[in-house]
Amino acid sequence: MLPDISINTVRGSDKRIGIIGMGMHVPEKVLSNADIEKMVDTTDEWITTRTGIKERRIAEPGTATSDLAFPAAKQALENANLAPEDVDLLIVATTTPDMLFPSTACILQARLGLVNAACFDLSAACSGSVYAIITAKQYLLTGRYRNALVVGAEALSGFVDWTDRATCILFGDGAGAVVLAPGETGGVVTSHMGADGSLASLLCMPGGGSKYPPSHHSIDRRLHFLQMEGRELFKPAVRRMAESVQIVLDRAGITQEHVECFIPHQANRRIIEAVAKQAGVPMDKVFMNLQKYGNTSAASNLIALYEAVEEGRINQGDHIVLVAFGAGLTFGSLLIEW
Ligand code: COA
Repeated sequence: MLPDISINTVRGSDKRIGIIGMGMHVPEKVLSNADIEKMVDTTDEWITTRTGIKERRIAEPGTATSDLAFPAAKQALENANLAPEDVDLLIVATTTPDMLFPSTACILQARLGLVNAACFDLSAACSGSVYAIITAKQYLLTGRYRNALVVGAEALSGFVDWTDRATCILFGDGAGAVVLAPGETGGVVTSHMGADGSLASLLCMPGGGSKYPPSHHSIDRRLHFLQMEGRELFKPAVRRMAESVQIVLDRAGITQEHVECFIPHQANRRIIEAVAKQAGVPMDKVFMNLQKYGNTSAASNLIALYEAVEEGRINQGDHIVLVAFGAGLTFGSLLIEW
């Protein structure tokens, strides 16, 4: 029989920050593997067996990340029963901001009417929403901020090289949002985040920043598209995510058996299966929706969390682990009592 665990038996701070509202949004347009077969030299069979992805959502040209973030954030606020002025902090995790500056968070703030919120973007690629929840949690724990809105949103399709079969099959657009606040029960039990900048070149978009500002030369060299060394990323992705899961379980003093649902970053089914194996987690506890959306980077964990709750995979009192990995490299986990 498993030892009983409760808030009081878990090590760490006795204050808890919980999720009090959720939202998500994906564009209507579906791009299937069959559609991609017509664009590059690939097959549905190759994509499905190597990644598990069957289709992804693609925003209409001209759609900004804030346009995807807005409905997700609005739904999360309504779900939390909060008025816009109740939000003290807005963090938008994204790798595809509307523009270099101002932050997408400020653009979103204006649309939502969050007149009392401090706003900033957080750049941690696919680990962005896990990093952002951990960051917001720290602000809320001080007591200075009461409600935080965390949004993970990406309009990746504008930065994907649709002539590169090795990357264009993987990514999709979308947004997820959560509202965080101190609560009596449940909430974030513990967390972990880390980075390894020595592997930064494995997944990047080199153009458009200060190193390679836009020029004819940068465009000719296709520097404004996402570049990835997929094979080299696979192993660190698996190792870092499995380690991160173990770290949060150890910090909480619990085992895999105490966790009802694992919500990994939705990059690739084979990566997720390898993480589960290495972390000792049975696949029936792992939530996956990457077959529908592909890799939506910073939005991925939040869209998956939303759908796991919608589908009844998470019940009150359950322990869930969100684990992420992304460009940077970045990685991190959250153990949440629901
Ligand atoms: N369709 C058909 N063939 C393809 C292809 C496609 N879409 N993409 C690549 N190939 C080919 C390659 O050209 C290569 O051919 P070659 O052997 O003749 O050179 C062959 O398939 C194998 O390529 P490789 O890159 O070794 O495949 P892989 O098994 O590593 O799978 C990924 C590729 C991208 C699916 C895999 O490496 C991966 O998932 N990596 C992690 C990527 C990731 O998730 N990044 C985001 C992290 S947040």
